[in-house]
Amino acid sequence: MKVFLIAGARPNFMKIAPIYRASLAVPGVDCRIVHTGQHYDREMSQSFFDDLDIPAPAFYLEAGSGSHAVQTAKIMVAFEAVCEKEQPDLVMVVGDVNSTLACSIVAKKLQIQVAHVEAGLRSFDLAMPEEINRMVTDAITDWFFVTEESGVTNLRQEGKPADRICFVGHVMIDNLLHQVKKLEESRISESVKTLKLGCGGEKAYAFMTLHRPSNVDDKNTFLGIAAALNEIAKDMAIIFPVHPRTKKMIEAFDIIFSENIRLLSPLGFTESLFLWKDARVVLTDSGGLQEETTALGVPCVTIRENTERPITVEMGTNVLAGTSQEGILNAVQKNLAKGRNASVPPLWDGRAAERIWEILCA
Ligand code: UD1
Repeated sequence: MKVFLIAGARPNFMKIAPIYRASLAVPGVDCRIVHTGQHYDREMSQSFFDDLDIPAPAFYLEAGSGSHAVQTAKIMVAFEAVCEKEQPDLVMVVGDVNSTLACSIVAKKLQIQVAHVEAGLRSFDLAMPEEINRMVTDAITDWFFVTEESGVTNLRQEGKPADRICFVGHVMIDNLLHQVKKLEESRISESVKTLKLGCGGEKAYAFMTLHRPSNVDDKNTFLGIAAALNEIAKDMAIIFPVHPRTKKMIEAFDIIFSENIRLLSPLGFTESLFLWKDARVVLTDSGGLQEETTALGVPCVTIRENTERPITVEMGTNVLAGTSQEGILNAVQKNLAKGRNASVPPLWDGRAAERIWEILCA
């Protein structure tokens, strides 16, 4: 079985790594990585291939940035040519980025089977481009691999065939557990080690990521978030690796951060893990970090009005803050008071990728 495994944007690389590794032990599976080029800077792409032990992609589509239509179209045109030449039996897409959407549409129109890993998640917020990507991908997917019970419920409510909805756990957590085990200080740069110590060391600082268009592209929203961060930084240092989209908007809006907020270039997976796993609290609008903090029991405050990952709030360490200054400050207080006694969701045990291959090969 020839399988194309699609990755394009930063959060995809963590998800394909365990799927690719597990494929090597499955007889008869020839799994090839296709990188769409949606993310292309070294620190947004290659550094993850280095950190996560993924081989170089078999195909690199060089799509690059652009409006949603331009980026999606470029990926589709390039991927269609590769599929027509190589004739894969199955295209496996992960997550909810434009590469997920583009490659699933191309495959399905060529009558190639599509498997969606992380299927069924819904924020019910169509202002999020990712929600549209999730819904369209799931409308044409043949195999739904689901990370949490809410995904099963959503897919059943949408009338998807029950025998194709497979609750397998989470490949992102497979990767996390694998990486935590092999985390070596020797792979961390001196500057990052010094930064951690300078911010007070373990459990003394906050770790921050922010990149959603709804948070950083709107001036008033971003100013409110920045005001909350400046307030929090009076009590603890905030380590903040800045996404390229966010960097542009900080400059465009002239946003001023307090000196206790340490702005960095984007970090690779290992250095980022080294910092957030020991943070007192993680502040984020990322989807994956809500889940990874839950898996390691690190308090997480999500700067969004909703989450498509409700298990992280129900069982995990996550608190939804909204995006107002007051909401963020209240959520940080509430979460710090709550302590670290959250549980790990079912099947987040490091074996999701194995389950996916067992199902597909059966
Ligand atoms: C994309 C995903 C989002 C995911 C995020 C993780 C979609 C719709 N969005 O958002 O779900 O959470 O990736 O990072 O697929 N840029 C660079 N270098 C790069 C890549 C991007 O400088 O390597 C800049 C470009 O100017 C680009 C902007 O960042 O216009 C945004 O990149 P894009 O891929 O369009 O969206 P993200 O905000 O990264």
